[in-house]
Amino acid sequence: MNKGIIILGSSRSNGDTSKVVSHLKNSTGFEVVDLHQKDIGFFDYDFKNEQDDFNFLFKGIVQNYETIIFATPVYWYTMSGVMKTFLDRISDFLYKEKDFGRMLRGKNMGLISCSNDDDRPEEFNLPFSRSAAYLGMNYVGDIHTWIKNDTLPMEVKEKIDAFALRIKN
Ligand SMILES: Cc1cc2nc3c(=O)[nH]c(=O)nc-3n(C[C@H](O)[C@H](O)[C@H](O)COP(=O)(O)O)c2cc1C
Repeated sequence: MNKGIIILGSSRSNGDTSKVVSHLKNSTGFEVVDLHQKDIGFFDYDFKNEQDDFNFLFKGIVQNYETIIFATPVYWYTMSGVMKTFLDRISDFLYKEKDFGRMLRGKNMGLISCSNDDDRPEEFNLPFSRSAAYLGMNYVGDIHTWIKNDTLPMEVKEKIDAFALRIKN
């Protein structure tokens, strides 16, 4: 079976996006990494943050998983800052230790977004789909999810399950 990892990019570990991620984890068997629990600094041209958690985390991901699903809340019409920082830091491996960056080639990338409404900017997925193309990854698609009254509506659960079927094979 396709081994996958879900990267949770919320500014809280037990918020709305984590509920979506838990459901996706149960439907796929994919593992989860919570970026809120990691110490990951901004991209720096002098690699001043190379001793933080990113280097080890990224190497573990590219060596162990075929499918990478980014899970982000909608903050200010786009991905969370935590998620953007993670994407920026991939650049570390385009400048140095490039063999690890190249290991992304041929892997699958997907996206799941979360807010409180069935509504997301149309272009929301562009940074992900374009980055996948740039990195030589297969973009397997995306869904938007929403939380109402702290719970996943049935419609959203069904959406996640359908997405899970697509990405886990
Ligand atoms: C900083 C911030 C910015 C937000 N911006 C938007 C937005 O632009 N559009 C939207 O629909 N919801 C926005 N929201 C609401 C969140 O998308 C929503 O509450 C989401 O479910 C939060 O997920 P979380 O608990 O994982 O952070 C924003 C919330 C925060 C904290």
